[in-house]
Amino acid sequence: AADMGDDLERVLLSEEQLHARLDEIAAQIDADYAGQQLLLVGVLKGAVMVMADLARRLRGNVSMDWMAVSSYGSGTKSSGVVRILKDLDTDLTGRHVLIVEDIIDSGLTLSWLLSNLRSRGPASVEIATMLRKPEAAKVEVPVRYVGFDIPTEFVVGYGLDYAERYRNLPFVGTLAPHVYQG
Ligand code: PRP
Ligand code: MN
Ligand code: MG
Repeated sequence: AADMGDDLERVLLSEEQLHARLDEIAAQIDADYAGQQLLLVGVLKGAVMVMADLARRLRGNVSMDWMAVSSYGSGTKSSGVVRILKDLDTDLTGRHVLIVEDIIDSGLTLSWLLSNLRSRGPASVEIATMLRKPEAAKVEVPVRYVGFDIPTEFVVGYGLDYAERYRNLPFVGTLAPHVYQG
C-alpha cells in the first residue's frame, strides 16, 4: 500500500483472500442454481469488482444487470435514504435473481432493495455480499452468500469508496482516521 501514502491503516483482506473466497462462493452458487437461468443484479457502484470477479467464476447460465442506488452520499455514515439512480433493464417476472453487493453495513440499502425487487414478481431473490458488518446492522437482511464478516471499521477498496476514491484497490483496507476526520 506504499502508493496510498498514509491514507490506509492496514490491509484487512488481501486480493488472494478475496479471490479464494470467491472460488468457494461461485462453486456454491453453481451448485445451488444448477440447470436454472440466473440473473445477477449488481448494485452500482460498489459491487463492480465483486460482480466481475464472481460472474467470471460461474459456469452456469448467467445474465448480468445493474441498478444504481445510493444511501451514503459522500460521508461515512448510512443515511437510510435510498434513491434509485438507475433502474434495471430486465423484467424480473419469473426470474431467479441474485443481488450482488460489496458490503452490508446498516442493511438499510439491501432491506429496501430486497422488497423492491420482490414486488416485481421474480421466481426467487437471494443476496450475495462480499463483506458484512454484523455489529453495524440496523435491520436484519437474509443473506444467502457472505464473503467475510468484518469489524465495524471504515473500509475501502475492492469497490468500496470514501468520497469516490479507493474503489480501484484490489484489496480491502482500513482507512486512517485522519483521512475522514479532515
Ligand atoms: C454502499 C455499499 C452498499 C451500501 C451498504 O453503497 O456499496 O451498497 O452502502 O450500506 P448499508 O448497509 O448501510 O445500506 P453507497 O450508497 O456508498 O454507494 P456506492 O456503492 O456507489 O459507493
Ligand atoms: Mn453500494
Ligand atoms: Mg459508497
